[in-house]
Amino acid sequence: MFTVKSSARTRAHDRRTITLFDAVRWCTDNMAKGKPMISEGDLKLSASLGRIKHVIIVISGKGGVGKSTVSSNLAMSLSMKGFRAGIMDVDIHGPNIPKMLGLEDAPLAVRDGKLLPPEAANGLKVMSMAFLLPEKDSPVVWRGPMKMSAIRQFLEDVDWGELDHLVIDMPPGTGDEALSIVQLIPKADGMVVVTTPQDVALLDSRKSVVFGATANIPIIGVVENMSGFICPHCGECADIFKSGGGERTATEMGIQFLGRVPIEPKITESGDSGVPVVVSSPDSASAKAFMDIADKIVRTVMG
Ligand SMILES: Nc1ncnc2c1ncn2[C@@H]1O[C@H](COP(=O)(O)OP(=O)(O)OP(=O)(O)O)[C@@H](O)[C@H]1O
Ligand SMILES: [Mg+2]
Repeated sequence: MFTVKSSARTRAHDRRTITLFDAVRWCTDNMAKGKPMISEGDLKLSASLGRIKHVIIVISGKGGVGKSTVSSNLAMSLSMKGFRAGIMDVDIHGPNIPKMLGLEDAPLAVRDGKLLPPEAANGLKVMSMAFLLPEKDSPVVWRGPMKMSAIRQFLEDVDWGELDHLVIDMPPGTGDEALSIVQLIPKADGMVVVTTPQDVALLDSRKSVVFGATANIPIIGVVENMSGFICPHCGECADIFKSGGGERTATEMGIQFLGRVPIEPKITESGDSGVPVVVSSPDSASAKAFMDIADKIVRTVMG
């Protein structure tokens, strides 16, 4: 794995494009230390991700808190701001990014043996495990090592071209599978932890922060999703799950708070219709929150 090690706070700014030169140097360093040489797969992985400037991993300690919603709106916000952006959905068991971006039936093209990511609105490049599964409704029953080799191949064989930002939507939780995925992604700038205001979710989001440290990947910040309900009739905001816990947790753990996204029926509708809320209702409170969060993330990873 070609991670550039430094402290969690500064590493986001130290990241740079991994070149073949880095790979060869890593290989010779390892040989000198008696460690195994870099594999052909490592080189392919490096080549595949090598033209991507910034990699942002979206995680949560708990399922269903809105990771995919945040990932898809974040990636689309970046595209709308003029960045060359992509989103990779590595959730094998519930890959729903293509549906959220209106690409459920998008055909996959292959060029020079590499998969070309289909494009959503504003040129956002999208790759998902969903494109590779034979049937939409068939469950994946692979064991750990099979999942890992599928994910590895998936990472190696996609031609992203030149990208400013790649957002990675992770499966829920911080178990072995998630750890293996972050080990395979060699140049992540950092993680965005999504949480909801409830105590249980906040407890789980703390685990995500610890997970980031274990994986030696910095935490970019915390997003509090489902933070208050905006009534579609009167526009009033009601704190049905409380709010502010995400910010408190971030402050206590010394990490950046990126912002709150309210519960808005428009978000659910837009997720189901395949048009993210930042495109379908750019003036809504949630769309504005996603745009602000994207700005903060860009400032953090670009320095
Ligand atoms: N702020 C919000 N307001 C309204 N609905 C929301 C909001 N955030 C997420 N949802 C809805 O909640 C559901 C779950 O969201 P999503 O799929 O993004 O969660 P997830 O964390 O990715 O789930 P999983 O852990 O299963 O991958 C979706 O139907 C989504 O539209
Ligand atoms: Mg999801």
